[in-house]
Amino acid sequence: MILFLAHLELWRVYWEIVSRPYTVFVCSLTAAVYYLWGRKRQKPTLICSEAFSVFLHKHCPVVTERFNPTPWCWGGRFQTLVCAFLKSRPLVTYRNERIRTVDGGQISLDWVDNDASASYPESSTRPTVLILPGLTGNSQQSYVLHAIRQATRHGYRCVVFNNRGVGGEELLTPVTYCAANTSDLELVVRHVKGLYPSSPVLGAGVSMGGMLLLNYLARKRTESGMVAGLTISVPWDALKASASMEEPLNWLLFNKFLTVGLCRTVTRHRKILEKVVDIDYVLKSQTIREFDERFTSVLFGYTSCTEYYHDASPGKKLPNTAVPILCLNAADDPFSPQNAFPLTIVQDLPNVALLLTAHGGHIAFLEGLFPRGESYMERLFGQFVQAVFEHSKDINKACRIKEE
Ligand SMILES: *[C@@H]1O[C@H](CO)[C@@H](O)[C@H](O)[C@H]1NC(C)=O
Repeated sequence: MILFLAHLELWRVYWEIVSRPYTVFVCSLTAAVYYLWGRKRQKPTLICSEAFSVFLHKHCPVVTERFNPTPWCWGGRFQTLVCAFLKSRPLVTYRNERIRTVDGGQISLDWVDNDASASYPESSTRPTVLILPGLTGNSQQSYVLHAIRQATRHGYRCVVFNNRGVGGEELLTPVTYCAANTSDLELVVRHVKGLYPSSPVLGAGVSMGGMLLLNYLARKRTESGMVAGLTISVPWDALKASASMEEPLNWLLFNKFLTVGLCRTVTRHRKILEKVVDIDYVLKSQTIREFDERFTSVLFGYTSCTEYYHDASPGKKLPNTAVPILCLNAADDPFSPQNAFPLTIVQDLPNVALLLTAHGGHIAFLEGLFPRGESYMERLFGQFVQAVFEHSKDINKACRIKEE
């Protein structure tokens, strides 16, 4: 009883303080200043040509929005972690297709045909979004599911290019995947274009999928078979990225976990892979770099991991690309350090836009108090995809791309 009264007394004193007008005033003022300061601080930077910027402002207005990260998610690492645990997983039903490669292997594609599309009832001309997941990722990643929700809502078709050996399917040859080798992606694009020659294709790559996409667009130039590219949280320089991932806290939180995932795939396909690599040595890897040194570089014929990473880094190759490309990165991304952002390269390119936020982490960009649903990243994806498909003439003109 005494305790109860004491509580009551405490509440009375508390209420007395908060109900005073000046307290309310001071609190509101603090909140307003903090909010405005935050807004100013968090306005993303858009680096691109004037014409591309005008196009994006008109058809992809999210680029003018201020990105306010979830207030309790402090820093890029925390955003990245929270995203992995909290983000919702929309229900998506895929139609799986396996295609054979020249080396006798297979690639698993997950389609969402969207035959119920109201805006594109005709399948042959329905635009297609080709999605490339990140390292160890496949069509079940929450960012893939959300992207598909966005694209299908606008009436488009989606297809996810699963990295070899990552899903449930068999590895038929001792070949997996690497960020520099575009042969599989070439095959996939040819396959998609063969099925739907009149359907425009947009490539959307996340993290390592973005590296692969940019390497592909740079290699194929005007022959890419794609109308545009979009990357989210792409590491621009694999050497700098792995250095950042080897900082103690990043190693503990992310690197170790991903390395375990990579090793698990190798164990699952041990029988076929032990023909070409020393599996036990690979499984002792403690970092992604060690894994790439012992496994990926060997599989794809590089003399060292440094050579592979140099070849896989997409930043310096951007001048070879020939379609409109939008790239979203956060300055506090532990996987993609900002000292590798290709700012000066992009400044001189008519067809590439870099959208940089101060916060957002790696494939996270969480907003709101309880960040489970769609956020900044999904809005950007939805708007850009729609801008590309619905205003193709305008975007090509803005990016100075000649249409045949
Ligand atoms: C990709 O790797 C395969 C297998 O090692 C090789 O045959 C092919 O030439 C490589 N392609 C490219 C574009 O480097």
